[in-house]
Amino acid sequence: MTKMDELRLQFDYNNMMAEYIGEKEGISKSILKAASKVADKAFKEAQGGRGKGMMGWTELAYNQNEIVEDILATAKYVKKNFEYFVVLGIGGSALGPMAVFQALCHLRHNDLKRKDRKAPKFYVEDNVDPERMASLFDIIDVNKTMFNVITKSGATSETMSQYLIILDILKAKLGDSYKDHIIATTDTKKGNLIKIANKEGYKTFYIPDGVGGRFSEICPVGLLPAAVLSIDIKQLLKGVAYMDKICSKAQMQKNPALTAAVLSYLSMKSGKNISVMMPYADSLKLMADWYCQLWGESLGKNVDNDGNKIYAGQTPVKSLGVTDQHSQVQLYTEGPYDKIVTFIAVNNYRKTVTIPNGCEEFPDVNFLCGHSLNELITAERLATEYALTKNKRMNNTITLPVVNAFTVGELLMFFMWQTAYTGALLNINTFNQPGVEEGKNATYALLGRKGYEEKQKELNSKPAKSKDYII
Ligand code: PA5
Repeated sequence: MTKMDELRLQFDYNNMMAEYIGEKEGISKSILKAASKVADKAFKEAQGGRGKGMMGWTELAYNQNEIVEDILATAKYVKKNFEYFVVLGIGGSALGPMAVFQALCHLRHNDLKRKDRKAPKFYVEDNVDPERMASLFDIIDVNKTMFNVITKSGATSETMSQYLIILDILKAKLGDSYKDHIIATTDTKKGNLIKIANKEGYKTFYIPDGVGGRFSEICPVGLLPAAVLSIDIKQLLKGVAYMDKICSKAQMQKNPALTAAVLSYLSMKSGKNISVMMPYADSLKLMADWYCQLWGESLGKNVDNDGNKIYAGQTPVKSLGVTDQHSQVQLYTEGPYDKIVTFIAVNNYRKTVTIPNGCEEFPDVNFLCGHSLNELITAERLATEYALTKNKRMNNTITLPVVNAFTVGELLMFFMWQTAYTGALLNINTFNQPGVEEGKNATYALLGRKGYEEKQKELNSKPAKSKDYII
């Protein structure tokens, strides 16, 4: 066993199977066996697409050596010269950086003293709520801030509005040196940001062709913020490569992403329209947010590749263990049979906290003493898994031996492959997002962007709202 193998993620699919949760709700061996033909086809199709079209993300663990060195040099400069690092981006240009920050930095990073942080304070502005944007300027000093504007399309209204706001503030405060406070991460050719960056001479990183927003965490979109945060990005990419190899095995039993995809596909067919992602670690809480975008935007499609109306998808839901045991688990255990739950377990938390002695005269409290919070959170996860299984609710568990850059890289790649295989099983375009584009275009029209006059007419011709329904 190599050191890498000790860090291998483990995948437990027992509680998806009929043998464990009963014929009516679980997937039987024979159904799984019958699906092996479609699984094989989906495997070949997805693997056949490696590095082509919108599957450029499959190669990112192998083809970024030079870029990684540039990122590390830039990160070193930022860490030395800036107190704040602010990402401006939304969707795939924000969720990955947030998830990796939460997973791999101190959970109270921004509250630590500078000497204990070893990195600038970190903020991701992924909304255009005016109150939130305004509040940012109450806590940062723009003189000491590097802004990383991230947008693949270079046109997203939210990100470009934020860019215009910070540009104005930077120019007013810093004069010509505003340029030294902006790094652009965008498409190599398309969109406005690349044109602006070239004109202004901003330091620029590129989002490679074939890497869509929600698959972009392992390119400069995520790697630059991670490196600025002193996260070991080479180790992260090693984890990505390691999981890529495992998820590229043709045999379903040896390929956790293909197995997960087939089980998800079969569960969708039997009416499981919801996928709950439930990490038992605060550090992985935002990983569930990242997963929700990946799963929702990739699989939520109304037509298949042959033009048939299929309205595919499974609504992703984020949930946190143990917190949501006291909020959602009642529903998961006794509500409709419409969901599967994925637990994310951690074997070795990075800290141990022991519950001290006390309350000796209250045995119902005292039984906790001497145990650790590590034991408590694990017992609660196992107890929830048991309760769900007893109530015949499909669930599965992904276990991280420890949360570190390598295992986080593994987790990212696992979910990306699971999504790609599931999309192939559903025979859909996993990598587009026409529903999102529709909303983007309607926003442009509402704000009077040139070239969107037809869309404006379309919006104006929608039936007026009736007063009868406004109370
Ligand atoms: O996955 C996607 O492509 C989208 O969700 C985008 O990430 C999101 O819309 C932001 O787009 P952009 O990076 O072009 O600003």
